[in-house]
Amino acid sequence: MTSPDLPAELKAALDARLRGFSRNDAAERSASISKTYRDGGGSGAIRSETDALAYALARMPATYAAVTASLNALCEIHPEFAPISLLDVGAGPGTASWAAAEAFSSLQDFRLLDANDALRKLAIDLVSDSFRLRKAVYERGEARGLLSRTEAADLVVASYMIGEIGDAEQAVLAALMWAKTRDTLVVVEPGTPAGYARIIALRERLIAAGAHVGAPCPHDGKCPLVAPDWCHFTQRLQRSRAHKQIKGAELPFEDEKFAYVVLTREPVTVRPSRVLAQPVVSKVEVTAKLCTPTGLTLARTPRRAKADYARARRWRWGDAVRDER
Ligand SMILES: C[S@@+](CC[C@H](N)C(=O)[O-])C[C@H]1O[C@@H](n2cnc3c(N)ncnc32)[C@H](O)[C@@H]1O
Repeated sequence: MTSPDLPAELKAALDARLRGFSRNDAAERSASISKTYRDGGGSGAIRSETDALAYALARMPATYAAVTASLNALCEIHPEFAPISLLDVGAGPGTASWAAAEAFSSLQDFRLLDANDALRKLAIDLVSDSFRLRKAVYERGEARGLLSRTEAADLVVASYMIGEIGDAEQAVLAALMWAKTRDTLVVVEPGTPAGYARIIALRERLIAAGAHVGAPCPHDGKCPLVAPDWCHFTQRLQRSRAHKQIKGAELPFEDEKFAYVVLTREPVTVRPSRVLAQPVVSKVEVTAKLCTPTGLTLARTPRRAKADYARARRWRWGDAVRDER
């Protein structure tokens, strides 16, 4: 499993850019960018080199952690997968490419696409000293146009991107990303009801186009969750000193909530159940909300079933588990 924390090489590259850069200025800009996101705006507010760095310092650790958790779920379900080429759609500062490089040592060909010039410049700067990523090709422009011209890749990733485009454009982009996916498509969004709704819409659309779900769902059927419930996960990551200063945060860690889907061309052979919330452990039993191949269940494992209880006690929210009771 790949660590959810930024790799040392990326941390060092970010720290180097931070030198000579006012933390207060970064904190202000990052707060204003976060407010734009909360108000429903997108990355359009990121225009300068300083904005891009403020965005990367504030958000890159968390989006990196969410992409890594999603790629870890993919690796668990499809351990022999060894992609050579990656397409990172809406790459921003290159977050998903860094995460994929860590998760798959097989990757050699990295292609990144994005409309934002400030984020593109920062991404190119950050990879300049990286042995794996320095030859990455980063194209600037609208995803739709760039995707229609680009070659297909083994692994296609869109992280925290589709929320920035309208519903109709999301449908077009989903089809285009799938058309450029040789093996696996991973889409990650914030773990909000709206992020989940976008993931579900894309999932349904692409299943209809022949895709299979690798994770988190253990089936290709309709999502059994009913509103106000929604499928999302959480990933804990460490906060650096700079990150704490910029976010004005006290805690040394952050929990990033995310929603994701892994779609594959070939059906996966194993379909373990997914733990949909942190299980409740009592002296009597472990109660876990599971999405299983046959639907949603509240699995109760009594203490008297010693081996099963011991196994269920170790279950964590987001885990793929075999419910063998
Ligand atoms: C929230 S950022 C996420 C960046 C990166 N994937 C990450 O996880 O950190 C969304 C990115 O999508 C890009 N984007 C949004 N709409 C786009 C479009 N239509 N074409 C190309 N890029 C787009 C933005 O420029 C921005 O860099």
